[in-house]
Amino acid sequence: METTSIIEAQSYAKKTIRKLDGAKLKEIYEKFSLAWSEKMLTQRNVPIFSDHIIKNVLQRFAVNLEKIPWDKDMQAIISFMEDFAPREQIEAFLSQIVNWYYGRYVTYDMRIKPNELIESDVDLNFLKKPDRDGAFILSQGSFECLKWKDIILFKTVHDLAITQMLLWELQPKTIIEIGSGTGGGAIWMADLMASYGLKTRIISFDLVKPAIKYDSVTFLKGDCNEIEKYMKAKVLEKLPHPWMLIEDAHVNVYGVLKYFHEFMEKGDYLIVEDSDIKQEEINQFIQDTDESYLVDAKYCDFFGRNMTCSYDSIFRKMK
Ligand SMILES: C[S@@+](CC[C@H](N)C(=O)[O-])C[C@H]1O[C@@H](n2cnc3c(N)ncnc32)[C@H](O)[C@@H]1O
Repeated sequence: METTSIIEAQSYAKKTIRKLDGAKLKEIYEKFSLAWSEKMLTQRNVPIFSDHIIKNVLQRFAVNLEKIPWDKDMQAIISFMEDFAPREQIEAFLSQIVNWYYGRYVTYDMRIKPNELIESDVDLNFLKKPDRDGAFILSQGSFECLKWKDIILFKTVHDLAITQMLLWELQPKTIIEIGSGTGGGAIWMADLMASYGLKTRIISFDLVKPAIKYDSVTFLKGDCNEIEKYMKAKVLEKLPHPWMLIEDAHVNVYGVLKYFHEFMEKGDYLIVEDSDIKQEEINQFIQDTDESYLVDAKYCDFFGRNMTCSYDSIFRKMK
């Protein structure tokens, strides 16, 4: 059971993904190939859907290892591999192994943004693409919202799955949700924590208090624009850590993050939901807090690159 691994902070050295040549890519491929075989053993060789694709591409690479033009640029390598598998699949695979290689906790600026111009010896454009496709837009439901015990929650199916794993791993003593919606998200987390046998304080904050009452959740009414008025320092200072702070109100995002930052401790998690539209504020926050937070790429990319509503914004505070 993997409960303590996130407590062991990984190397915090700044690394760059933007310098990559064929030789490095070959090294990454070889390491990934080995790690994948080891992973399959832990599954007793029972494949999940993605293992079929990985196996297929790894086999193509293995058979052609000597012929792949590792000394040429990325386009030449991709073009060569295109004879064996569709380009999309090759690019998705390369993106996966490169991101895997750089590890779980990466600086926010290591996450190459879709509009970024990369100056590199090789064309790394494939690293910019999120794996989101038409299905993502339906992942909160094609018509009806997802529900927990008949209460609406505004989560994607991916985030439901990711969050329950992260909650078990982090075992937060406090969860603070900014933006309650109908209260479904907070109640779902409260029930999960209870089912894990853990005592967690859950506070959910909204301009409009949900109609529902729930023993293990404190619903607070207030305005994010004056967050310090409603969530007072003297209360926050006493809330036990680790914390999971979820920003999901979409108002005064920078101000809210900056306010809570003062109370966050090493090992706490910060999740900013629906964040494809909040990147500017997040970027500013990350710069202004001395890059204290690293993106948890494990969860951001669990179902493919950024297949989460928290686009590059599942953060762990590292210092
Ligand atoms: C997307 S919903 C939250 C969904 C919820 N977290 C869930 O998982 O089900 C956004 C919420 O933000 C709240 N909100 C909007 N402006 C706000 C403000 N200025 N202060 C506090 N909450 C606000 C809305 O009332 C709404 O309930």
